Amino acid sequence: MNTRDTLKINAAGRLQIGGADAVELAKKFGTPLYVFDEKHIRDMMRVYRNAISRLYGGNGLVLYASKAFSCKAVYAIAKSENIGVDVVSGGELYTALQAGFPADKIYMHGNNKLEYELEFAVKSGVGVIVVDSFREAEILDNLAAAAGIKQRVIARINPGVEAHTHAYVQTARTDSKFGFSIADGSAEEITRHLLGLKNLDFKGYHCHIGSQIFEKQSFVIAAGKLMDFICEIKQKLGYEAEILNLGGGFGVWYNDEDPKLQLEDYYGYMQCVIDEIKDKAEKYALKQPFLVIEPGRSIVGEAGITLYTVGAIKDIPGVRKYVAIDGGMFENPRYALYQSKYTVIVADRADAECTQKVSIAGKCCESGDLIAVDVPLPEVNSGDILAVLTTGAYNYSMASNYNRNFIPPAVLVNEGKAEYIIKPQNYEDLTRNDVIPDRLVKNDR
Ligand code: LLP
Repeated sequence: MNTRDTLKINAAGRLQIGGADAVELAKKFGTPLYVFDEKHIRDMMRVYRNAISRLYGGNGLVLYASKAFSCKAVYAIAKSENIGVDVVSGGELYTALQAGFPADKIYMHGNNKLEYELEFAVKSGVGVIVVDSFREAEILDNLAAAAGIKQRVIARINPGVEAHTHAYVQTARTDSKFGFSIADGSAEEITRHLLGLKNLDFKGYHCHIGSQIFEKQSFVIAAGKLMDFICEIKQKLGYEAEILNLGGGFGVWYNDEDPKLQLEDYYGYMQCVIDEIKDKAEKYALKQPFLVIEPGRSIVGEAGITLYTVGAIKDIPGVRKYVAIDGGMFENPRYALYQSKYTVIVADRADAECTQKVSIAGKCCESGDLIAVDVPLPEVNSGDILAVLTTGAYNYSMASNYNRNFIPPAVLVNEGKAEYIIKPQNYEDLTRNDVIPDRLVKNDR
């Protein structure tokens, strides 16, 4: 079972999420179905917000990195928790604004934001835009001039810390499509450039060292390097950055190879990072910068599960047993993309002993369409409900209509009650934008 009390086994031996029986949810809403526990999402937002208010005097802002799961309801939750959000496209920005999210608490990211996206952001009053290229700085300066405003910006820095789940490496690596490298001098160069642009209000720096990271030291090193850089720039240019945005990256539990972090562990990550910032600020006689963090996966990842109905079962003796579900890579492409490992549960008999290893196959027309390979499972039959755990982050947000399958709906569970937050698609939705040119109708070449 996962980390906290989000998932339980009820008296009937069935999987329960946020107090709701998973098998009943499957019956009521159909499968495949994304299910989110609202309490888990709120608890995670709060743990970061509390860390900043208690350990750092409230001098900062938590942004939910909405690329992990973007829909109107999640922005509404973030708004009610009084945190900000990060968006990476016009589409995410539009969704947030439609949900009534305050524009000034939105940060916008992207290594190649398009001009219409930047214009949309400037006109909507987006709080801070994270500049990732010289070209973008020029475009933004012109857009801000046209709008008659001074746009607040920060610059994305590549600090040369590469983080992996359980390790980190420090490199002078400049080979990344993101950010301005400290090592090759481009971080200093963009600083000089942004300070010279009249319509931009240059506020500081951002970095993001990776995702699904458990190694505390990687976050501390990155924070330290950015503070070193702020000090260096102050000495050279007399400019002291006010905002320090350290990105996201905190890991979550997917299967037994991962640690099960409790709320206090996430608080502990924040404590280490904040201690480092305070130490360096004191050492260099700098003001403590306004601290921004952007967790995505850790807020929604373990809050979500996906429910499926088992269809065909193919046992190839001595080779492998495939259990096919009504979903697949179109609604969870993470095994196909990254060979991500998941925990799978038979929701009808969540406490049954695992007696076999099976592979969970999707319904798409390709062999690589798998959700999990050789995972332990109890006896399983066609018609059973399977739950794949920790699918709240980067599943719905990376889903597609491949093979013209429906992107599944999502429900939000709160104290045992579930409501749609994303409605089911239908065939009309799939063909809505299709056009047959007249000459094809007439069969006229
Ligand atoms: N901030 C920036 C600038 C980012 O690029 C990301 C994630 C985040 C924050 C949030 O990071 P998190 O807290 O979620 O680790 N599709 C991949 C994950 C890509 C993450 C990209 N950037 C996956 O499914 O594992």
